Amino acid sequence: MYRTLNLRCIQRVLRPGRLYTTPASSTVKVLGTDYLTDSYTNITPTILSKLPLQLHRQPAHPLGTLRTLIESHFPSFSHLSSLSPIVTPYQNFDSLSFPADHPGRSVTDSYYINKDVMLRTHTSAHEVETFAKGETKWLLTADVYRRDEIDGSHYPVFHQMEGAKIFEAAPYAMREVEEDNERLSAHLKQSNIVIEDIPHLTPANPSQPSHNPQHSEAVALNLKLHLNSLLLELFGDAAGATKEDPLKVRWIEAYFPFTSPSYEVEVFFRGKWLEILGCGVVLQGTLDRANVPNKLGWAFGLGLERIAMILYSIPDIRLFWSSDKRFLSQFTPGRISTFKPYSKYPPCHKDVSFWLPSRPDGEAKMHDNDFCDLVRDVAGDLVEDVKVIDRFTHPKTKRDSLCYRINYRSMDRSLSNAEVNDIQDQVVSHLKDRFGVEIR
Ligand code: DAH
Repeated sequence: MYRTLNLRCIQRVLRPGRLYTTPASSTVKVLGTDYLTDSYTNITPTILSKLPLQLHRQPAHPLGTLRTLIESHFPSFSHLSSLSPIVTPYQNFDSLSFPADHPGRSVTDSYYINKDVMLRTHTSAHEVETFAKGETKWLLTADVYRRDEIDGSHYPVFHQMEGAKIFEAAPYAMREVEEDNERLSAHLKQSNIVIEDIPHLTPANPSQPSHNPQHSEAVALNLKLHLNSLLLELFGDAAGATKEDPLKVRWIEAYFPFTSPSYEVEVFFRGKWLEILGCGVVLQGTLDRANVPNKLGWAFGLGLERIAMILYSIPDIRLFWSSDKRFLSQFTPGRISTFKPYSKYPPCHKDVSFWLPSRPDGEAKMHDNDFCDLVRDVAGDLVEDVKVIDRFTHPKTKRDSLCYRINYRSMDRSLSNAEVNDIQDQVVSHLKDRFGVEIR
């Protein structure tokens, strides 16, 4: 089954159930290579169809433009953007000191080709190999894959840019950091943006035991100055930001397995704080694994869709995947423009309620992300969001009941009720086949 998939048309092929029940000895072709499948295999036709697209390398695409704008903000850095999304769990997790029981490793959260090979869930997966190549300041842009809920700001494929800069850790080399900090501080000036900042080091977000705290402080300051300067350039003139109503950006303390201290940056957009990047001082273990133990530096990872949605006023993350001329023809390479919605077509929601099969052993049955992948495979980008509207366990039989509401809406045309009913019937039938549910 996997072998015969035609990537150009799988999006609309209504037969997703098979992919989850492939016999253990079969193979899946991913970007031209055959891989054995096993009990970890959970990559879906929808995901396979996205792998070759590389939106961040299309010059006029908002993601391509955003990439080049950020790259031009860091002219002296190396710019990498063509690494394969197929990585090992070692690259994605272990090389970055993720604990063995980190939830990101689970098949419910990440896409596996088989137990030894997966799709990167973040661009940090390439940190060790990039430092090991001798790169000391670099940006790396790529498509990343995560199993997730379905709504206007989540899509199982999105794009990140990783940036890093490392310095000689020896005390004399700290002068380079200080000079860079002086240069950046002088250059930073406020526009219609308010940045809420926090101290570089706190007891909850300390420097690493092997680091001189003053050096770590200087490196964390360097990270913040570089990113504040980028944020000012990107958002300083953001549509709608005025002196009276400036764009709000805030730094918050965070935790990542591969940095300390660590931070997140959020932007206030449409009444909500949106997380747009994570960053911190690179963990010594990462640098040791890359064979550059005498370095000290910072890294960040930012989500391109989140930023592009704000800068271009793109209301729904599915639009990035649109091949509709009314979307694509609006954009010119290298220039940010406000997206003009061509139309808003009516939504149509359908509910499905069912009993999950009883499993006395208490084994996991169907994760919300399994349901979302199933719906994506059947409905493609016609699904706008999926919500659980009811969930309970029967007190006597202990069976679990679920009700999901699927909201369908095309971004390009009106959907007929008959068409939506047909899609919903397919969802229900695959749900029965794959998970043995009993429709209520
Ligand atoms: N990889 C992280 C994520 O996807 C983001 C991130 C956090 C990248 C901290 C970094 C970093 O380089 O230092 O959520």
